[in-house]
Amino acid sequence: MSINKQSQTPIFDTLLSRSKRKVVSFHTPGHKNGKGVDKRLRQYTGKSSYYFDVTVFPEVDSLHDPVGPIRKSQALMAEAYGVGHSFFLVNGSTVGNQAMLLSACNPGDSVIVSRNAHKSILAGIILSGVWPIWIQPGVDQNLDILFDPMPEQIESALHQFPEAKAVLITSPTYNGITADLVKISEIVHRHGKVLLVDEAHGPHLKFHDELPISAVEAGADMCVQSTHKILSALSQGSVLHVNSELIDINRVKKVVSMLQTTSPNYMILASIDLARRQAVQSGEKIIDRVIRIAEDGRKKINHLRHFFSFTRKEIQARGYDLDVTKVTINVTKSGFSGREIDSILAKEYDIQVDASDLFNLIAILGIGSDKTDMTRLVHALEDIDVKYHGTAKNWILQIPSLTTEMVMMPREVFLSKRTKRTPITKAAGHISAQTLTPYPPGIPVLIPGERITKEICDYLMNLTEKELRVSGQETDTLRTIKVVAL
Ligand SMILES: Cc1ncc(COP(=O)(O)O)c(C=O)c1O
Repeated sequence: MSINKQSQTPIFDTLLSRSKRKVVSFHTPGHKNGKGVDKRLRQYTGKSSYYFDVTVFPEVDSLHDPVGPIRKSQALMAEAYGVGHSFFLVNGSTVGNQAMLLSACNPGDSVIVSRNAHKSILAGIILSGVWPIWIQPGVDQNLDILFDPMPEQIESALHQFPEAKAVLITSPTYNGITADLVKISEIVHRHGKVLLVDEAHGPHLKFHDELPISAVEAGADMCVQSTHKILSALSQGSVLHVNSELIDINRVKKVVSMLQTTSPNYMILASIDLARRQAVQSGEKIIDRVIRIAEDGRKKINHLRHFFSFTRKEIQARGYDLDVTKVTINVTKSGFSGREIDSILAKEYDIQVDASDLFNLIAILGIGSDKTDMTRLVHALEDIDVKYHGTAKNWILQIPSLTTEMVMMPREVFLSKRTKRTPITKAAGHISAQTLTPYPPGIPVLIPGERITKEICDYLMNLTEKELRVSGQETDTLRTIKVVAL
């Protein structure tokens, strides 16, 4: 990789030049270089940034048919990650997951998918009309976290379903836990299949030796990364990498174009451009600092009475690895739920974590995290540790077995009008016609086409009792489930 070449930022430079020349706008958007934007917003953001908010014309290039700065910037991204092709995404990894499935599979194909998949993968399954062959993730009922399937599970699924076209794995998980992708890649390729990886949480892995191996380095054929989650791109800025002869690159181009807006936000594109340069030029140094901050914070949290954060060593002992920049904080000993501690942190300490559930908070560090941020979090937890503690909750969340019987294709059920609502207490045995996703971590516990089990009903009722909302529930309280009317 040429470090000199990597210092280039073609999209940013083009927009900056346009901004300096104060080019008169007779194109969309309607605010015309910010002049029409509400004054309060303009005063807050400053005026010049609106020159970056443009539409497709030759100088700035087209995301759908790039021949200029966007093409150059995508090529630099591909070089930085050591892949054949990189595609910029302006609707997050969500659109990347959909694009991976639509590119690698045809309707009716089957795909082996780890069941801890984000809901965007389910959307990809519905859009592409594939049969998902779910693999059960590991569950830790005490920590309330899911683990990716082990390589042996992938091997046995490939033996059982030799017709499967591809294997789709989520690594790292929301908690930063990574699968043994090297082994998985070897197995998948030995069987002549394609390995797709949802690496939304791993755009930084490549830039530091102490972090788990990245998907591409482990041999993934395609992977999607949320550049905005840990690196410095603006929200929605993500990248789809393709590094395989097994993938038809022209089809990927068409699919990515089909799924994305024709009015991409160029500020997002410029931020992806700059995030790549930053990661290549100073990523190692910055991430090194972030790792130290996270590990120091973790150590201090592990000295508290009511909170703890699992360590890399503990995760490695289970056959996985951990991106230590993700700090999962278990709060069960405090007598409060993760949601409650999240709310205390937000309301009383002005600290916002990325996510919380019944047992945990997930604090995500990124390229902009500094020592002061972690000191604030640790001090707040120290304070809460003394001030707020009830009786330790010996909750064991009965996370249900997620692999259930697929009776109908998700797409077929999604499009079907033959549905009815049934009380959740009587739903076991029916075929689900809806997606129910406790958030976080955004992993659907029920998807269209699956046979509903009593275990899943009990779990959903348990969440409802604890007043945890389930995305897709359609009514204020989850009392009924939409099922297929046979
Ligand atoms: C594992 C995983 N994949 C995909 C996504 C979707 O990413 P984005 O928000 O960039 O669309 C998320 C979002 O949280 C995620 O956690």
